[in-house]
Amino acid sequence: MIKYRKTIENLEPYKPGKPISEVKRELGLSDVVKLASNENPLGCSPRAVKAIVDWTNDAALYPDGNCTELRNALASKFNLSPSQFLFGAGTDQILEIIAQTYINPGDETIMGWPSFSRYEAVTRIMDGIIIKLPLTDDYRLDLDAFLDAINEKTRIIWVCNPNNPTGTIITEQEQREFLKNVPENILVVLDEAYYEYVQNSNYPRSVELLNEYDNIIVLRTFSKIYGLAGLRVGYAISNENIIACLNRVRGPFNVNAAAQAAAAASLNDQEFVQDSIKINQEGKQYLYRAFKDMGLEYIPANGNFIMVNVEKDSLQVFKDLLLKGVIVRSGDIFDMDNWLRITIGTPEQNTVLINALKSVL
Ligand SMILES: Cc1ncc(COP(=O)(O)O)c(C=O)c1O
Repeated sequence: MIKYRKTIENLEPYKPGKPISEVKRELGLSDVVKLASNENPLGCSPRAVKAIVDWTNDAALYPDGNCTELRNALASKFNLSPSQFLFGAGTDQILEIIAQTYINPGDETIMGWPSFSRYEAVTRIMDGIIIKLPLTDDYRLDLDAFLDAINEKTRIIWVCNPNNPTGTIITEQEQREFLKNVPENILVVLDEAYYEYVQNSNYPRSVELLNEYDNIIVLRTFSKIYGLAGLRVGYAISNENIIACLNRVRGPFNVNAAAQAAAAASLNDQEFVQDSIKINQEGKQYLYRAFKDMGLEYIPANGNFIMVNVEKDSLQVFKDLLLKGVIVRSGDIFDMDNWLRITIGTPEQNTVLINALKSVL
């Protein structure tokens, strides 16, 4: 056997939410509702669809390695320089690029737990050491514990906001206080994958902090509210020096052309974004009421997903729901054994979920 690198010895492959087609095939079901991967139940903007169709004529050509159209569109949206953006095949790829750029063997990075598992994987692949700190009693990142864990080996701090899977947020004031206390040679990654969904006036305006801090990277994605998860496009916003370093590591054509075209077109459709926010807010209220009626505890959500305590073995409930054609995320992967993470769907999908949940519980 060919010897692999020691750093991957105990790494588990990422376990994605089950695809609809697989569940249909395995269980012989014709109707399957997937509320497992925090995708947009409305799909994507019709403008994105048109851009993808138009792009097919150019499928033989390499993409623009600079993502010029998308870069310029975002630069003018945020009133920043185009050189403050870096694009990736999803923010997943940007996390890899950040780790490859900044982590030397033995360096430490800090994350909450449960939080987004890729922070751990990208750290360990680079032979770094991941420090996972428990959430507070109200399921939020414990920024004080993060500060206490900093030492001379600390290189990166991963702030998932809203936190996946708990949906809780760090406020503007908390984030400011935290950043004031982080040494400036430590990189703070502000992962805001669910940014557009958050309807809370205390949520940070992180992009404005770029004027004050040289050690932060803000991450956003087109996978969530823009509904382009299948095309893979996300972006980092930071200062020009950090972006220039990340660009040394980035592959030449890392964002495909269809994704670039669809993302740029999506930015012009803020009506779609508003519709997505509305359906998410209404779905959230419906699910809150249903959980309350069922006597189930839930964590108030800021993204497009809710953690609910079903007070039973989550893997079993997950399997029982699957048999009824409903795919959710079992909390056991987050060490929350009695919990399910449920993506907020359309009204019809939410009703199917609640009826199935009532019957399996
Ligand atoms: C917190 C967080 N960050 C990053 C990602 C990766 O998103 P993508 O690679 O699709 O942009 C996700 C996806 O679920 C996420 O929840």
